Amino acid sequence: MTHFTANSPHARDIASVLHPQTNARKHRETGPTIMTHAEGIFVHDDAGNAFLDAGAGLWCASLGYSNERLAKVAYEAMKTLGYYQIFRHASHGPAIDLSEKLLSIAPVPMSKVLLQCSGSEANDSAVKLVWYHWHAQGKPEKRKIISRRGSYHGSTCVAISLTAKPEYQTGFGLPFDGFLYTDCPDYYRTALPGETEEDFSQRLADKLEALILAEGPETVAAFWCDPVQGGAGALPPPRDYFQKIQAVLRKYDILMVADEVICGFGRTGHMWGCQAYGMEPDMISCAKALSAAMQPISAVLLNERIYQSVLQQSDKYGAFIHGYTYAGHPVAASVALETLKIYEEIGMIGHVRSVEPVFLRELGALRDHPLVGDFTGIGLIGGLELVRDKATRENWPAEIGLGARVDAHARRNGLILRIVGNRIAFSPPLIITADEIRELARRLRATLNAVHHEVSAL
Ligand SMILES: Cc1ncc(COP(=O)(O)O)c(C=O)c1O
Repeated sequence: MTHFTANSPHARDIASVLHPQTNARKHRETGPTIMTHAEGIFVHDDAGNAFLDAGAGLWCASLGYSNERLAKVAYEAMKTLGYYQIFRHASHGPAIDLSEKLLSIAPVPMSKVLLQCSGSEANDSAVKLVWYHWHAQGKPEKRKIISRRGSYHGSTCVAISLTAKPEYQTGFGLPFDGFLYTDCPDYYRTALPGETEEDFSQRLADKLEALILAEGPETVAAFWCDPVQGGAGALPPPRDYFQKIQAVLRKYDILMVADEVICGFGRTGHMWGCQAYGMEPDMISCAKALSAAMQPISAVLLNERIYQSVLQQSDKYGAFIHGYTYAGHPVAASVALETLKIYEEIGMIGHVRSVEPVFLRELGALRDHPLVGDFTGIGLIGGLELVRDKATRENWPAEIGLGARVDAHARRNGLILRIVGNRIAFSPPLIITADEIRELARRLRATLNAVHHEVSAL
């Protein structure tokens, strides 16, 4: 057990902070890693260590961990109009400008923008809009929502019901009824022997159709999907997957909602993940890189069809009765708008495309490592499969605690990794340079070598 001096920040943290996604009992022993400051893509802790965070925090710090220009914009916004709400016909410049900007860059024609404060809130509100829409259309029974196993869509009660991971749900008595799950498009782990990516995608689309028919298409409201599936370990879809899925959804008039919380704003080398895969959603939720993670803000983009339902419901109920105090917050909206300006000025998407080959080559080169089964990625997002046996793709037994070992060695090598199940998920800050990617790969190889040495001796 680690001993912390009374009144040290570590002891005070243990005494006062409840940490999300953290083993509460273990935290009492290990205490926190306290980050103090950052330079570019490196974040420093209070023990003097500098880390390259290969996950950009939580897939979000697109411009790194500090930014003078965004700080100035936030400061000015706080002096000019530090808060105002957008309820009951009230508005302000930053909310209007940001909504207009988002509509102008949307991957498919969108009609309106609903500003929120987090990815979870965006998905939660989008679920309400789905239900609202079908109520307006006189089909209140069209209510069930399908997402993919392994996906993560947030932590509110509804977003966690969309999240198809039992370990996130059972302790809370969730999910709510009416949330259904279909297959994760994990070609590496679940394709049949000799099955092509196209055939695999068709099989998954057929299974989705069978699920819809079994439930009754008149009861299925929407399908939720992130273009690259973050919760499954930054898993890109197999070839033709979304084309085949969309064909099924159109056949049964089921809405498609694209969760662009991770993929939006350049992550895939396109402004939107939807553009990388030809997706044509009815609604989009986005957050994270929208403000380079410097302010909590998110948005739902909705198409004209959904907006017409909102109009109709206003006639019926007197208003669109939904809202958060901080929705469209002028400071957050100003920072988001400036972030989008910065992306344009520095050619963020062009940069991601220019370093993508280095990212894919450097991390792909680790396929030769004895612990690595595969690597798949696009733009600056991807995942590495950890295996015990490359030929059979067998996993290491859970008791080995492989993920914790990888995490511990990575930190010793000045690297923060995001481990999701059997995959290491990479989503470095979008400003990462080719040299920094090579450094990431060097630290990663040193980490995997140390882990391999350790587990081989067991
Ligand atoms: C795909 C996806 N959707 C939604 C969320 C939830 O976003 P937030 O943590 O801002 O609520 C996340 C968070 O990581 C995510 O990865």
